[in-house]
Amino acid sequence: MSATPRVLTVTPNPALDLTVHAGGWQRGAVNAAQGAQQDAGGKGVNVAAILADWGVPVAATGLLGRDNAAPFETLFREKGVTDEFVRVPGATRVGLKLVDPTLGDTTDLNLPGLTVSARALAHLQATLRSQPAGVGAVALCGSLPPGVHAGFYAEEVARLRGQGRFVALDTSGEALRAALQAEVLPQLVKPNIHELEAALGRSLTTDAEVLAAARDLIRRGAELVAVSQGERGALLVTAQEALFARPPRVTVQSTVGAGDAMVAGLISAHLDGLSLAGAARRATAFSAGSITRLGAHLPPRAELDALAAQVQVDAAQPLTH
Ligand SMILES: Nc1ncnc2c1ncn2[C@@H]1O[C@H](COP(=O)(O)OP(=O)(O)OP(=O)(O)O)[C@@H](O)[C@H]1O
Ligand SMILES: [Mg+2]
Repeated sequence: MSATPRVLTVTPNPALDLTVHAGGWQRGAVNAAQGAQQDAGGKGVNVAAILADWGVPVAATGLLGRDNAAPFETLFREKGVTDEFVRVPGATRVGLKLVDPTLGDTTDLNLPGLTVSARALAHLQATLRSQPAGVGAVALCGSLPPGVHAGFYAEEVARLRGQGRFVALDTSGEALRAALQAEVLPQLVKPNIHELEAALGRSLTTDAEVLAAARDLIRRGAELVAVSQGERGALLVTAQEALFARPPRVTVQSTVGAGDAMVAGLISAHLDGLSLAGAARRATAFSAGSITRLGAHLPPRAELDALAAQVQVDAAQPLTH
């Protein structure tokens, strides 16, 4: 039995990753494969898994196809994540990754996902709106499936904030653009630099430009804007402070989900009332630690503490007017 959730993550468009290892496979031929693995994926699923690893009681919702829900259910059971996914007819989208270890390359084939019915969407909205008061934070994560309008997150942010919840948003494209243009912004926004540029419709070529863009979102009602920049680190901005957090060098297994781990770290830092510098260290340690593992898993606490101590946190360059 999982503890009463304090955080809800929302993944409207999860994915099931099917990785097939086939050394030397050839197009158009009959090939032998050495093995295959199914991994439940999707940004909010990853955020929930990482929070659960850290010991935060968490629930996950979104839309899940009934036909291939088993790997998700297994993950939730193993991590102790409360499963509040709405089941819908059909299969969750599958991403096939054909890995050739001899060449060291991967071929991706992404199958189409579910098209969401009005009924399923209403069910998801009802789930979001009927959360108990103990759920202090809600993370809206990832892309929106066909059938869900681009303003979905923007609307839910306003409603959830109206209920007094702390809302984190990690999305891209039109969904991010709509949410950033809305009247009510989420308290936490974590775009990567490319997502932020796309949402704002302009390139951000200097640190000063990134800082100015983040400060603009703060002026418009966000409380913490974290602009992640891959290996370089992340810029974290609040109304009072602006910091740059540089990760230590780590041995990378897979950088997939680095940003999701950062979101989980920032949410846990919020729950613990950490300072911005403390949040920067924790979130960067979560990211750097998670990429040393395949899948959304945190390393043991001692390893995370060691990583956090190695994160380089500096004041971001002040704006020159
Ligand atoms: N190669 C790396 N080495 C060390 N740390 C890394 C590396 N790549 C990413 N990170 C850490 O992870 C954080 C988030 O990475 P990134 O900006 O790539 O997120 P993202 O694009 O949102 O990723 P995703 O959406 O795939 O989870 C970075 O700020 C950094 O601290
Ligand atoms: Mg991301």
